[in-house]
Amino acid sequence: KKWFAVIGDPIAHSKSPNMHNMWFEAMNIDATYIPIHVKPEQLEQSITSLKTLGASGWNITIPHKQAIIPFLDELDELAEKMGAVNTVVRLPDGKLKGYNTDGPGFVHSLEEKVGKDHKAKKVLLIGAGGAARGIAFALQQFGYNDLTITNRTTQKAEAIISEIGSGQAVSLQEAEQHLNQYGIIIQCTSAGLAQSEFSLPLSLDKLQEGAIVADIVYNPLMTPFLVEAQKNKAIVVNGLGMFVHQGAIAFHHWLGQYPDTNGMTKKLTAELE
Ligand code: ATR
Repeated sequence: KKWFAVIGDPIAHSKSPNMHNMWFEAMNIDATYIPIHVKPEQLEQSITSLKTLGASGWNITIPHKQAIIPFLDELDELAEKMGAVNTVVRLPDGKLKGYNTDGPGFVHSLEEKVGKDHKAKKVLLIGAGGAARGIAFALQQFGYNDLTITNRTTQKAEAIISEIGSGQAVSLQEAEQHLNQYGIIIQCTSAGLAQSEFSLPLSLDKLQEGAIVADIVYNPLMTPFLVEAQKNKAIVVNGLGMFVHQGAIAFHHWLGQYPDTNGMTKKLTAELE
């Protein structure tokens, strides 16, 4: 029997075990996926244990996505650029290879919802933390080349743009004033999370009609940002698809098969509604 895991601190809230175990069952794969609580000071020991006990692969969540890198033998190109890993594959020779499926998961989710014909649109990314950075790299990899990043701290947006080597950084005020230019808007700040002190990163008054508006938060499914966008006639994409697709891409790296993302998104949506 193969086994997989997710390591993080905290870990109890993770929906990954439930999702992967449902996929194993649906696809008749003899495998199991477990959550493991790993504190920062236990990271190295936990990797030794995962190897010794024969895990075939695992996911890494907060706060270990960067710290795990020195323990890996190889990195996929995107993970290397991002300096962050959320998926480890144990290769046939026992070596550990790190991938980052978060950003690609976002793009797959977006394209599952709206198709692949929007690559020429102007994209506005709001936020410049770890999540925004991953999505910015993935957008570039998938051919969304007209990127603007806005953030409360503009220097952080500028830093991502200079790493990527194309696009521009603007202040929140500028983004708000020229919002009608953007065909795709992606909310990547902590706005809208239950514990967040703010609900909207910027005003959506000037939103283009028919714009695609996405949020990476999925609990709640309809963040205040998406509620506002929907009032302004946007096509909204919630954050659940990103979660499902980051898992599906990891699953594919481990097992060579692609699980059912559409059905899983529906199932998890019903649980969250
Ligand atoms: P993650 O890893 O999930 O991306 P993060 O790195 O802590 O989380 O990033 C949080 C994002 O939310 C940042 O873009 C942050 O803006 P700053 O870079 O200016 O800190 C944004 N954010 C957090 N609180 C905010 C607030 N009150 N108003 C506007 N933006 C906020």
